[in-house]
Amino acid sequence: MMHNLPDKVFLGGDHGGFKLKKRLVETLPQLFPQLQFEDLGTYDDSSVNYPEYAAKVATRVSKGEGLGILICGSGIGVCITANKFSNVRAALAWDLTSARLSREHNNANILCLGERLLDPDLAIEICKTWLRTDFEGGRHQIRVDMIHELEKGQSGGAS
Ligand code: RB5
Repeated sequence: MMHNLPDKVFLGGDHGGFKLKKRLVETLPQLFPQLQFEDLGTYDDSSVNYPEYAAKVATRVSKGEGLGILICGSGIGVCITANKFSNVRAALAWDLTSARLSREHNNANILCLGERLLDPDLAIEICKTWLRTDFEGGRHQIRVDMIHELEKGQSGGAS
């Protein structure tokens, strides 16, 4: 059961993730009627650049408006892009364990998936696990805080 998670989830991805995103947009609202899902594109399978869509989702998550799910061919490009945004902890998950740990230990607020590397039914299960798992806090909070401090140092130009 979900306890502390925001109730809004932004989805996005490039042409390499379009089919899986479509499936998630159709399926997740039925599985999680208590959550609001917003699809930020891309809206067809013509070739686009993944940083644009990763940035759309990461901007909203960075502002604390909700969680994100990003999909590209491998999940890697969107993950690299999203992690450039402050307050974003994007995690690439390829099975239920990595999905669960990214929430329990890392308090990931964006889940990244690779359509070309994942069975679509497994991808749905990964999303279910990710959305149902809470952050454990405790010693993991200290580490997440350290990441945030590093982020502030980088952007604040600390000497
Ligand atoms: C697009 O061909 C592909 O490079 C992209 O979807 C993604 O896999 C990048 O990491």
